[in-house]
Order: sequence, then C-alpha cells, then structure tokens
Amino acid sequence: MGAIEFDGVGKRYGAVHAVHDLSVAVAEGEFVTILGPSGSGKTTILSLVAGLVPPTAGRILIAGRDVTNLEPQERRIGLVFQSYALFPHLSVHGNVAFPLAVRGRPRDEIGTKVAAALARVRLAGLDRRRPAQLSGGQQQRVALARAFVFEPDILLLDEPLGALDRKLREEVQVELKALQRDLGITTLLVTHDQEEALSLSDRVIVLDHGRMQQVGTPDEVYRHPANRFVAGFLGLANLLEGTVEAGGVLRLASGEAVACDPRGRPPGARAAGVVRPERMRLLPESAGEGLAARVRQTVYLGHLQRWHLETADGRELVAAATDGVRAAAVGEAVRVAWSAEDVWLLPDESGEAAAPRPALAAMAPVA
Ligand SMILES: Nc1ncnc2c1ncn2[C@@H]1O[C@H](COP(=O)(O)OP(=O)(O)OP(=O)(O)O)[C@@H](O)[C@H]1O
Ligand SMILES: [Mg+2]
Repeated sequence: MGAIEFDGVGKRYGAVHAVHDLSVAVAEGEFVTILGPSGSGKTTILSLVAGLVPPTAGRILIAGRDVTNLEPQERRIGLVFQSYALFPHLSVHGNVAFPLAVRGRPRDEIGTKVAAALARVRLAGLDRRRPAQLSGGQQQRVALARAFVFEPDILLLDEPLGALDRKLREEVQVELKALQRDLGITTLLVTHDQEEALSLSDRVIVLDHGRMQQVGTPDEVYRHPANRFVAGFLGLANLLEGTVEAGGVLRLASGEAVACDPRGRPPGARAAGVVRPERMRLLPESAGEGLAARVRQTVYLGHLQRWHLETADGRELVAAATDGVRAAAVGEAVRVAWSAEDVWLLPDESGEAAAPRPALAAMAPVA
C-alpha cells in the first residue's frame, strides 16, 4: 500500500489536457520529485493530491483510502505553493503557528513547535517580523516551516526553493532532505531544476505534456533514460543513431562503428544510443580510436569544462571533464572516444519517424 496512489488520474481544464492517465504509487516516507518543463502539469498534480481541484478521471488514494471526493482540510497535507502565500498581517510566528492554532493545539505546545520549526529553517529570532520585512528567501523558509510544523502525513512542495540564490538554495536543499528524513514525511516536490531533482529525491517522476515519461531513482533516470525527452531533460545527452550489427556494434549513418551493448536487439534493428558528456574522452588527433572531431567551442563552468565538438559529417557532440587534463582549444582536431558500457540504447521508438535529427538532445544551447 502506497502513501499516495494515483490510479489512472487525469485532469482536463476545458480543452487543455493538463494530466493524462497518471498511475504511480509513492511509498510511505518516500521523497519523490516531479520534474518537467513549464506547463507540463506539475502544479496540477500537487493540486489534485491536496484536493484543490478534482480529477476528471481516475482515483487518488492516500494511505489506502480513496480521497478523490474528500475536502482539502480532511487530508492532513502540508503545502508550500509556488507563490508561497504568507498571511501578510500575521508575524512570522503567527504564520507558522497558524496550522496548529486552527487545530486547537494548546498555547505552550504551539510555542515550542513554532520555535523548533523556525530553528530548523534557520529563522530563529525573526519571529516578530511581518512577511513584508523579510527577503524572498526568508519568506520561502517561513512557508516551509508552516507546512511541516503540524506534522502532516504528506508534504507537497511546489518549487519551494525557487526564490533562493544558488548558495542558499543548496544549503536549504541539504536541510530539507535532513528534515524530511528525520520526520519521515512522505514528500512530493515539484521542480524544473534537474540537479535539485537528482540530489533530493528517492525517485523522480519525469513529466512532459501531462504524461509521465519515466519514474525511477535519480541514477536510473539519468543513466538509463526511457526516451529522448528524458535523456535531454536530465542534462546534456549525445545521441548516436544507427543500425545494430552483430558483435555489439552500432553502425552510424556516417559508416563509423560505435561499440555498445545491443541488449537483445537483433542485427539490422534501428537504435539510438545516449552517451553523457562526462563519459566522452578527448584524445589527440593521432590516437588510434574514437571519432574524428573538431573543437567548435569550449565552455568554462568552474567545476567543469565542456567542449562542443563537430564530427566530420557535421554531427554535434559534447564532452565534459572536471579536470583540465583533456584541454583542447577551439579549432583543434581531436578524437573523441567512449566505452561500450557508456552507451545506453534507448528503448525502441519505432513509432518515430526515421528522419535525421540533431545529434544533440540538449537542454542548454551552446554558450
Ligand atoms: N485553472 C486552469 N484553467 C485552465 N488551464 C489551466 C489551469 N491551471 C493550469 N492550466 C493549464 O494546465 C497545464 C498545466 O499547468 P500546470 O500549472 O500544472 O503546469 P506546471 O508544470 O506547474 O508549470 P510551471 O512550471 O510553469 O509552474 C498548462 O497548460 C496550464 O496552462
Ligand atoms: Mg507550476
């Protein structure tokens, strides 16, 4: 029995089909992230769990109970909205105390719990301020404290860290993860930030156009994407398309052979392989292995260096490394190589046209 079960859930807003046929179960105490681009249906899914909007198809179960027709206040859910709406006329203390006060908790219990919650989000001492006297990041942390202070069964977080700068965001991510683990609250977090999804979650649901594209552990969705969308949404992915040949070879259109594990595909089958940039090795032009390429662009990211490459037949590839060892300058001729185990063949997408596609399924354009 899952803490939250979606059973064929759909949501239409008139002509807009915001969520399609969602069936997935979230386990007790699990931290699941819903990752997808803007408009993919993430907030709609949280609103359905919270009971703010009714589904137009299917059922939602919480702890085994069908809650599809239950009012929001009957669901024991802590919620942080995308626009963390605090009560402007209440102090920080008043905001965080609110869920306890409406539940009629005694005064001293409220005092203790609010103080503990504010300490957890590192806002101790600010309890007398009004929301307007706080920074955006501080307001967001008040909203977070208000969501978990009454020990809900389920925490729903819609981009809860969106207003924080990068450093604070990473700090609060660590805090949030520790908090969730300590309290053991089943958590559904919405984000469009792939790093946030990978670093926080037990499992990630990847959503596109209201349809679940894949659900899996961070490692599964990153290393073994179910399709091109997932491969491209979770960072940069080099896409190599060709035909499977006997002996573990993918023959590219250019005639070059790429070693790979065909995972049961017969010779002659069309296939697309994904190789992550950090798995691509840059070698000198004289090396006896890999594909010939030329460096078109280098991108320095501090912790990482990226090389955007073009192969002889015009294919775009990206290599990345954390050290400067593979340094190569713009215009330089190199070879790029990888190991067979670093090629992940996408499951058959035979429904798709065989027309040539760009080799790079990229989120970010060349900087
Ligand atoms: N009340 C509504 N009436 C009509 N259409 C809606 C309503 N709420 C959402 N939609 C539509 O449903 C789709 C999904 O919206 P949703 O808010 O769930 O997306 P999202 O993934 O949360 O996006 P974002 O990352 O921008 O917050 C969008 O096409 C949106 O325009
Ligand atoms: Mg949203």
